[in-house]
Amino acid sequence: MELTEKDFKVFPKFRHNLWTSYEDVPDMTCLTVSHGVYEVPTEEASKFLKIRSFCTGYNNIVGIAEKSKIPIDEIQSIVDSLIEIDALHLPFKPLEILTKQEIIYTLDAATKIWSEQLYDTHISRDIFLGKTSKNVVIGWLLETYHYVKSFPDALEIASNHAGGKLKEILIEYTKQEKGHEWFILQSLLKAGLSKQEIENSIPLISTRTIDFLFKELFSLEPCAVLLVARIIEAEDFDVNSANEVAKILYEIHGFPIDMLKSFFDHVEVDSKLGHHQLLENNLKLLEEINPCRLHDIVNKLHDIKHAFDLQKLEIKDYYDKIGNYLPRQYVDFFAI
Ligand SMILES: [Fe+2]
Ligand SMILES: [Fe+2]
Repeated sequence: MELTEKDFKVFPKFRHNLWTSYEDVPDMTCLTVSHGVYEVPTEEASKFLKIRSFCTGYNNIVGIAEKSKIPIDEIQSIVDSLIEIDALHLPFKPLEILTKQEIIYTLDAATKIWSEQLYDTHISRDIFLGKTSKNVVIGWLLETYHYVKSFPDALEIASNHAGGKLKEILIEYTKQEKGHEWFILQSLLKAGLSKQEIENSIPLISTRTIDFLFKELFSLEPCAVLLVARIIEAEDFDVNSANEVAKILYEIHGFPIDMLKSFFDHVEVDSKLGHHQLLENNLKLLEEINPCRLHDIVNKLHDIKHAFDLQKLEIKDYYDKIGNYLPRQYVDFFAI
């Protein structure tokens, strides 16, 4: 039987569910689903996580019990409690019969979840708390430089594929983002790197992957730029926390106190341009999306969110490893 025909009460599969625990409240775990956040006792959450990997819609409850070595009745009770909070994967139905409201609601909900999750887990959170090495701070700035520099090219691909009002918005967005790597360059200069070595450096594979995934998604559906903007663009700028971060990086790593001034100027500029609000100001444009692309759009957005997780791991791995070139070097013909 195809997955699309299955009864997910019998072959458990759930809606996108994120489990977050916080150090200061170890007994409670937060479960985020598209329709809300629930507090679950950590003991129950850990039980669910033991069976979660098998809840793909390809295993029935007996199968999950065999694979997880957890008794059937315990699994049934976990599944029942998740059904109770409406966390079961929705039954598949033809995309063409979805209403415009349903499409907008779901895309809006997906971007809200991933925007919040990216904000909570982004590498900059660790960096701003002084929890990484000095090289990782420089590496993060280098990757941000490349990421910001390549973003207008991805936006241009979207505007080439768009028409009407969406095209106008995308042309304007591209224009606004062009050259913004200048802000990051200034911070890198303050960190002690030269203009030439920054400009001639090569981004990590994960940074390039983010760019590829943007381009892939935007050529499939240019309207997805609005969804991505909601996920990646900063919501607002807080001068007090920027000052706090400057102090931490100065005290812990000895960076110039004004090193990130230009970096935060960029956050402020983009936030004033309203990039994060592009989606909510143009929600109606989502109605023009061809419904047959909806599954792919959601899946690719999910990949993008994970590409940032990968980038975090790679930045820490590459820039912390003794002997790795800083910045990452272009490997030319004569290097061989
Ligand atoms: Fe920007
Ligand atoms: Fe921006």
